[in-house]
Parts: sequence; structure tokens; C-alpha cells
Amino acid sequence: MSLILLALAGIGAIAVLRFAYFLYQFLSFHLLIPSEPLKKYKRANTTAYALVTGSSAGIGLGIAQELVRQGFGVILLGHLPDELASAASTLQQIAPRAQIRTLVLNARTATPAELESALQPLTSTLRITILVNNVGGNPIHHGRHGAVATPAFRPHATYSAADVDAVIDMNARFMARLTALLLPHLSKPPAPGSGERSLVLTLSSGAHIGVPWLVMYGATKAFNRALGVGLARELAADPATAHVDSLVVVPGEVRTQGNCRDLPAGSPSWDRFGREIVRKADGAVSRGWREMHPFWWHGVEDVLARTVSEAVRSKGVTEQLARKKRAWDEVYEKEK
Ligand SMILES: NC(=O)c1ccc[n+]([C@@H]2O[C@H](COP(=O)([O-])OP(=O)(O)OC[C@H]3O[C@@H](n4cnc5c(N)ncnc54)[C@H](OP(=O)(O)O)[C@@H]3O)[C@@H](O)[C@H]2O)c1
Repeated sequence: MSLILLALAGIGAIAVLRFAYFLYQFLSFHLLIPSEPLKKYKRANTTAYALVTGSSAGIGLGIAQELVRQGFGVILLGHLPDELASAASTLQQIAPRAQIRTLVLNARTATPAELESALQPLTSTLRITILVNNVGGNPIHHGRHGAVATPAFRPHATYSAADVDAVIDMNARFMARLTALLLPHLSKPPAPGSGERSLVLTLSSGAHIGVPWLVMYGATKAFNRALGVGLARELAADPATAHVDSLVVVPGEVRTQGNCRDLPAGSPSWDRFGREIVRKADGAVSRGWREMHPFWWHGVEDVLARTVSEAVRSKGVTEQLARKKRAWDEVYEKEK
């Protein structure tokens, strides 16, 4: 009997210690912010640039805003020249001395040759040390720049082959190609003893667990996650690339132009979320994490989703997506 009690006490103690360790990591990650975020991704003798895809609005613009505040140059990549110009002027107001470039490229349609020739003048003249693979969304729904062609949330059986390809092209193919092209530049050896590093940040989504009525979106977000995590392990395994970090960002609901209906109360705005990514990436990398939830509540949601049974998880996800589907169906009915 006393042996059983001892074993139960041991199991209880291990559970308490595990929880205490988790709590310590959680609190220190969210509360201890470095005074100069991303310092090791700067360069001593030249401006270090970050290439941020999909950065004329939303989370990408939020990341770019914080990067210029921290002294980085930025290259804003987007598909609409006017929107890029307006984003660049916003950044210039935030940081008048910041080096800002724009790159017009359509993530959905750019060919490998177009991508390569757009990058060449940048990599031959600038020192890019951070790549932010941010562009992504549900490109088969044209809400802002044209007629609403289809409901934003709809069953997979209604996707044409072109719809399937559109989501893969924008959310998966583009970032896989861009990352492969930029890695040799990011991997250039740092000055000996400098501790200088490079970074690839890849935006996934809580939807990577699989979501109804946005099946393709969720599937590409699982791709993004595996791309960033696989890359982190590969880069760390080779001494020639061990100075390049790869970190996946897993947002929950963030208020942006692309996600502006039926968000839970307290969801962060795009600019706050972008700031949190920049301020918390060091903490995640230094802990050896391959992915991070920069907004604290998204981290809690992730733990809950992994802890509950599949039946409970499916019910929660389905109810949440059904609410969003109803909200976006109303938009479709009004605008079609
Ligand atoms: N918002 C959320 O709740 C949430 C949650 C989880 C994950 N994420 C992920 O976070 C990332 C950013 O999301 P977001 O909500 O900030 O998106 P967003 O508000 O829709 O902004 C996307 C950005 O990408 C640009 N863009 C759109 N189509 C493009 C194309 N074909 N080529 C190049 N650029 C293009 C947009 O430019 P225009 O304005 O000119 O179209 C805009 O600057 C995505 O990968 C998304 O999956 C977001």
C-alpha cells in the first residue's frame, strides 16, 4: 500500500514540476523582452535588411513597422504598386532614416524566372539577414480588389482545380521557392567571432490542425509549419548553415484586412501582433523552439487544443468556423 502511495506521490510531483516548468517558460517568454530585439541579425558595418512578403497590409506590415523601429532596412514585397508605395511612406514616417525598398511580385502567379530576376539586384547590392515568409490567405475569394467571386468559406467539393492551385501557389509554392533561392545569401558566413546570425520567419496558422470550409487554407498552413520546422533542423545540422535560424509563427485570430469578421473579443490587431513577433522571436530561438505563439492567448489555445480529445477539438473548431462562415456568407450575399 505504502509503495503505491509513494508511486502516486512521485507521479504527482513530476506532474507538478512539469507544470511549474511550463508556467515558468510561458511567463518568461512573454514577459522578458530583450532591450534590442533581433540584435544578432544586424550587421556591424552595413544595414541589415529584412525581406517581408505580403507586407503592404496586415501582419506583414506590422512586422515591417517594428523592424524599421529596431533599425533594420526592409524590402516590402507585394503585388500592388500603389499599396506598396503607401506602406513604404507609412514606414518612412515611423522611422525617417530607415532604408525601405519595395518589390512588386505576385505571389500567386510569379514564375521561377521572374522570382529569380527580381531577387538578383537585391542580393547583389544589399545584405539581407531576415526573410519573413508572411504572404498567405484565401486567394480564391476576391473581397477587396474586385467582385466577390465565391463565398470565402465553402466546402472543398466546390473547389475547382484552379481554386486548389491558387491556394497552393500563394501559400505554399511561393515561399518554398523564395526560401530556396534566398538561403545561399542568408547563409553567407558571418564575420568570425561576431555572433552574427540570419533568420527565416515563416507564418503558419492555428488552422494547420485542419479546418472545415477552409480545407485548402489549413492544409497549406500545415505545409508552412513543416517547411519552417524541417528547415530549422536541417540548417542546425550543418556547420555551414548553423548560424541561420528558422522559426515558425503560429497565429490564432488576428484582426487584419483579410480577417475582419467574427473575431473573438481580445484578438490582437495586425500592428500589435507584428510587434510581438519581432520582440519575441529571440526568446523562442534561444529556447531552441521551432515554433512560437507570440500572443499569449494563442499559446493557451494551442495547449488546450492538444490536450482535449478529438471529439471536443472537432466540436470547438467546427463551431468556431461555422460562426465565421455565417459572418462571411452575409458579406457574400450583400456583395455578390
Ligand atoms: N489574420 C489572421 O487571423 C491570421 C491567422 C493565422 C495566420 N495568418 C497568416 O498570417 C499571414 C498574414 O495574414 P494577414 O491576415 O495579415 O493577411 P492580409 O491582411 O490579407 O494581408 C496579406 C498581405 O499580402 C498581400 N498579398 C495578397 N495577395 C498577394 C499576392 N498574390 N502577392 C503578393 N502579395 C499579396 C496583401 O496585399 P494587398 O493588400 O495588396 O492585397 C497584404 O499586404 C498569412 O500567411 C496568414 O495565413 C493570419
